[in-house]
Amino acid sequence: MNLDKWVEQINSRINEQPAIGLILGSGLGELADYIENPVIVKYEELEGFRKSTVQGHKGQFVFGRLMNVPVVAMQGRFHFYEGYSIYDVVAPVRLMCLIGVEQLIVTNAAGGVNESFVPGDLMIISDHLNFTGQNPLIGSNNANWGPRFPDMTNAYDKELITLAKESAKKIGLRVKEGCYMWMTGPTYETPAEIKMARLLGADAIGMSTVPEVIVARHMGVKVLGISCITNMAAGINEEPLSHKDVIITADRIKEVFVKYIKIILEGSNYESN
Ligand code: HPA
Repeated sequence: MNLDKWVEQINSRINEQPAIGLILGSGLGELADYIENPVIVKYEELEGFRKSTVQGHKGQFVFGRLMNVPVVAMQGRFHFYEGYSIYDVVAPVRLMCLIGVEQLIVTNAAGGVNESFVPGDLMIISDHLNFTGQNPLIGSNNANWGPRFPDMTNAYDKELITLAKESAKKIGLRVKEGCYMWMTGPTYETPAEIKMARLLGADAIGMSTVPEVIVARHMGVKVLGISCITNMAAGINEEPLSHKDVIITADRIKEVFVKYIKIILEGSNYESN
């Protein structure tokens, strides 16, 4: 992996070091279109970088200011189910952390496991369950990046959760909060798996986010996670699940989503200087 080279390449292109990284999930990439004076770095411009293959994911970094906060947004992420190694999946997050982001806002499309949720809800992630047996830190540890055995007690930063709740109030958004379970996919879950997920304490379920959060925490970067509940998980309704429906719901709420993330950024500590 050419991490050092990519860092150099990107640093030579950008005008300002980003303070906050944004990972934009399926159908939520539009937020990056609001970034001012954008510097776009396509994944394909970075030699050896992977290509994003999922519909609804563009495959580029967008650097610039959003609500006056220097940010970098990933429009399109890598998923384990695409066949990438777990190390490739997290490479963009390593890169953002090496470039100097101090906080990461990670978003995703997820199935609602908690039966009180409805499609279109936004859920602040309070904790996660890793049900894949995968971990991007398996292998030798680079002590410059972080510790061998990172603590995950506060994987999702309490202050950022408070900020996210207060920001929701400001715009009259009834936001949910709960635990996200990571499955590899690409199959959606069976109804039995969803019953299990609920028994184990999951409120939402999806195919991303957790490896990215692990790597950010390894590197000491604070994380805020937000799931867009695009559908009720398998077996809750009679309806079969489809990616098309996931995209349709994400599309329906993207306006609220954009407004919400903007308000969160406005309330963050990064004032212009
Ligand atoms: N399951 C897993 N991943 C998902 C779902 C789901 O129901 N919806 C969106 N991503």
